[in-house]
Amino acid sequence: MHIPWVFFCALALVNAGNISFISDPGVYGPQLEIEHAYYGQWPTGIAVSSTGRKFSNFPGGLDPANTYNGSNDVFTVAELTSLTGESAYPSLGMNHPPGAGANYQDYLIGVQSVVIDSLDRLWILDTGRVLTPDGSSLVYASFGGPKLIGVDLNTNRVFKTILFPSTVAYPDSYLNDVRFDLRPDVSESGEGIAYITDSSSEGRNAIIIVDLGSGESWRHLELTKWVRSQNQFLPFIWGQPIYYAQASRPVSYWPLGSDGIALSADGERLYWGPLGSRYLYSVPTVLLRKQDPTSELLTQQGVTSHGEKGASDGFETDSNGFIYVGNNEANSVNLFNPKNGTTTPFVRDPRINWVDTMSIATDGYLYFTVNQINLAPASYPGTDRRVRPFALFKALLPGGGTKVQLE
Ligand SMILES: *[C@@H]1O[C@H](CO)[C@@H](O)[C@H](O)[C@H]1NC(C)=O
Ligand SMILES: *[C@@H]1O[C@H](CO)[C@@H](O)[C@H](O)[C@H]1NC(C)=O
Ligand SMILES: *[C@@H]1O[C@H](CO)[C@@H](O)[C@H](O)[C@H]1NC(C)=O
Repeated sequence: MHIPWVFFCALALVNAGNISFISDPGVYGPQLEIEHAYYGQWPTGIAVSSTGRKFSNFPGGLDPANTYNGSNDVFTVAELTSLTGESAYPSLGMNHPPGAGANYQDYLIGVQSVVIDSLDRLWILDTGRVLTPDGSSLVYASFGGPKLIGVDLNTNRVFKTILFPSTVAYPDSYLNDVRFDLRPDVSESGEGIAYITDSSSEGRNAIIIVDLGSGESWRHLELTKWVRSQNQFLPFIWGQPIYYAQASRPVSYWPLGSDGIALSADGERLYWGPLGSRYLYSVPTVLLRKQDPTSELLTQQGVTSHGEKGASDGFETDSNGFIYVGNNEANSVNLFNPKNGTTTPFVRDPRINWVDTMSIATDGYLYFTVNQINLAPASYPGTDRRVRPFALFKALLPGGGTKVQLE
C-alpha cells in the first residue's frame, strides 16, 4: 500500500519522540552544601579550624589580579567572615609587602596554600612568587620569599617563620601544598615534620621535608617521573581540552608537577600526584625523613604507584583512612581506599569543574574549593571565561569520617 509521505513522516516522529535512552544522572553521593561564594579575588586554598573558622588564600602566582598593587582590596590570605565576606589575615599590613621585591620574610607575597594542623594552628605556605600585573611573567623567588609561617589562632599572631634556603626552594620552585605530622618521634626536634610539594612548571619538581622545630629542610625524589607531569598530558574539563596558555609562552600541555599531597591516617605514608597526571603515588614517610648518603636511593626504591585516580589538584585524608582526590574530568571527587587499592566516586555534581583544594574538618565534612581554573586565562584559549562567584562547598564524609589528628 502506498503511504503518503507526510503521514509517514509524522508517524516516525511520534515514535522517535517516545523512545527514552539511559542518560548520565550527573550527580552522585551526599548533597553539596554551599559554604562560601568568592566574588572578589580568585581562591585556591581552604583551611577549616576546630571552631569552624575558615581561611582561604589567593595566589598571585596563578592570577595577576591577586598580586598586590597598592589596593586594599588585594590580599593573599583571608579569613572568611560570612557567606561572601573576606578579611585580610593575619593583618592587612602583613599582606602588603613594601616594594616589588620578593624577599620580604615578614610579609606574605604569593600564598599557595593554608592548612590547619592537629594543634589547631594555621600554617601559611608562601611560594614567594607572583605574576607581574600584566600576567606576562612569574617573578623568580629569592631568599625570604619562600617560607612556612605558623599563626596562633587564639592570638592571631605569627609564632613561627621557617625560611627555605635557595638550595631547597630554588628561584624557579613553586611550593604548592603542605601536610603536617606533629608526632614527637618523627623529627629530631620533637616538634613535628611538614611535607611540601614543589609543583614548578619550569623547574625541578620534588617533595620537600621540613623539621618544624629546627626549621631544617631538604628535598627528595627531585626530577623523578613520579613528581613530574606526564608527557603530553591533556585533561578535558566540561568537555573542553585544557592546554596550558601562559601569556609569554607557546600553548603547551599541562606542565605542572607534584601538587596534591596527603598523609595516610597513621602518618606512615605520604601520597601525592602531579597536576599533569592522573596517577597516585606514595612512599613511606620514614624514607623521606632520612637524609644520609643513600636515603635518596632508598626513597626512590620505596615509591608505589596506585594507578590512575582521575585528574586532580589537592588531596585530603579522613579518619577512615580514605585519600580524597579530585576527578575533575568527571565533575567529581573520588576516594582511594588503601585497604583494597580501589578508587571510587565520593561526590559528583555539575557545579563541580576544578576541585582545587580540600580541607577535612573536625565536624566530619570535606570542604573544597571549586575555582574554574579550566576557564582562567592560564588555560587555552588564554581568555578569561571565569564566571563569579567561585565556590566553597562541603559534603558529609562517609562512615563517620573526620579529621585525622597526628600529634
Ligand atoms: C509510548 O510508549 C509506551 C510504552 O510502550 C506506550 O504505552 C505509549 O502509548 C506510547 N506513547 C505514545 C504517544 O506513542
Ligand atoms: C589593583 O588590582 C585590583 C584587582 O585586580 C583592581 O580592582 C584595582 O583597580 C587595582 N588597583 C590599582 C591601583 O592598580
Ligand atoms: C573498596 O573500598 C571502597 C570504600 O570502602 C568500597 O566502596 C568498594 O566497594 C571496595 N571495593 C572492592 C572491590 O572491594
